[in-house]
Amino acid sequence: MDNDWSTAGFVPFLVALDGDIDVLALASDTANSWQPQVALHAVATLEAGNLSCIPVYPGATWPLLNTPHRFHAWEAMHGDLAWQGAFAPENKTLEAEGNDPTSGNPNRIVKAAFKEGFPKGRPNNSTSAANFMVEMVRKYPGKVSIYSAGSLTNVALAVRMDPEFASLAKDLVIMGGYVDDNMLQATGSILQADFQSDINLMIDPEASKIALTADFPQITITGNVANQVFPDKEFMKDLIKVHNPYTELFYKYYDPSFPFWDETAAALMVDPSLATNQTSVYLDVDTSYGSPNYGNIHVYQKALSPPGVRQVNYVFQVDGDRLKQRIMHAMQYPRSCADLH
Ligand SMILES: *[C@@H]1O[C@H](CO)[C@@H](O)[C@H](O)[C@H]1NC(C)=O
Ligand SMILES: *[C@@H]1O[C@H](CO)[C@@H](O)[C@H](O)[C@H]1NC(C)=O
Ligand SMILES: *[C@@H]1O[C@H](CO)[C@@H](O)[C@H](O)[C@H]1NC(C)=O
Ligand SMILES: *[C@@H]1O[C@H](CO)[C@@H](O)[C@H](O)[C@H]1NC(C)=O
Ligand SMILES: *[C@@H]1O[C@H](CO)[C@@H](O)[C@H](O)[C@H]1NC(C)=O
Repeated sequence: MDNDWSTAGFVPFLVALDGDIDVLALASDTANSWQPQVALHAVATLEAGNLSCIPVYPGATWPLLNTPHRFHAWEAMHGDLAWQGAFAPENKTLEAEGNDPTSGNPNRIVKAAFKEGFPKGRPNNSTSAANFMVEMVRKYPGKVSIYSAGSLTNVALAVRMDPEFASLAKDLVIMGGYVDDNMLQATGSILQADFQSDINLMIDPEASKIALTADFPQITITGNVANQVFPDKEFMKDLIKVHNPYTELFYKYYDPSFPFWDETAAALMVDPSLATNQTSVYLDVDTSYGSPNYGNIHVYQKALSPPGVRQVNYVFQVDGDRLKQRIMHAMQYPRSCADLH
């Protein structure tokens, strides 16, 4: 499971464990913050629930081509993105208040952001996230799901490192890939525009294209549907009826004005029957730096699709009640290493 992990970002691995999936490892990537920082969040949030038997492998810190400077030059031409993720300007004031680092030195660690506690352990440096993914699909051909809810840099590296990587995996499930939302970005609030920012794909457009055109047996896109279900007040009230480190961290630090993004993608990996409306389309990623849609997806029907793209499963709607039940159960009754082995 590859993600830009954070203080309240543990639900995806809890949902996977609750769905009887063996989580082989967590991998870190750069999306909302820099890779070294989010790798430590992964270690820390595993420690919070006695889940340190799950290793964390560090991913690539830099996107294939993109840099904060290059991204801001693009913004100067095409307008600001409401959510800039790791490319937002460095802001010492915000960091002192507990924000994860953005721009500046990508290797700096901002301890104030570890509201879950700074980890005792460290990521396992013996191999890279991309290499670990390659090793695992070779060890368990056809059985390994690749979950990606941050940038697709590590997945793209694995695809390029081993030409059989994608076909040997079971599937790729991503969070990101919004489509047909331009009018909403224009007419809605800044927060609504923020919801469609698609930073996971836009941080590394070239990697997104490599990953999403590779020959995985199946690709599931959790794009527009990721904005469907929110943790409303009722959910928070029910959640905190059970006290444990995860319910407490979530209750305290998850901002309920944000929908279940990564959580929806994880639940769809565990239980594809949660999707109540989905379609199959051919999908490409815009990699023209001169385009206002640089890093966004473009979808086609078969007869009109260009060479080199493939069919993906695009989810429009999920069963919101069942999704919330899964998330609630995963946090209230989390597995720990004692249950896993
Ligand atoms: C983790 O393990 C410790 C020591 O065995 C125990 O005291 C604690 O309750 C466990 N925490 C959780 C969340 O399972
Ligand atoms: C840093 O963030 C604070 C709080 O949002 C803001 O007031 C300030 O202007 C920012 N500083 C810089 C240099 O952007
Ligand atoms: C790190 O991972 C490797 C496998 O890649 C494993 O052999 C090793 O035991 C791990 N190290 C630690 C400290 O867990
Ligand atoms: C892994 O590498 C990072 C960066 O070089 C270093 O800060 C960290 O201490 C290393 N972790 C271990 C367990 O060696
Ligand atoms: C499925 O979603 C699409 C896109 O929002 C919509 O056009 C279509 O009417 C939906 N189908 C059903 C059966 O709800």
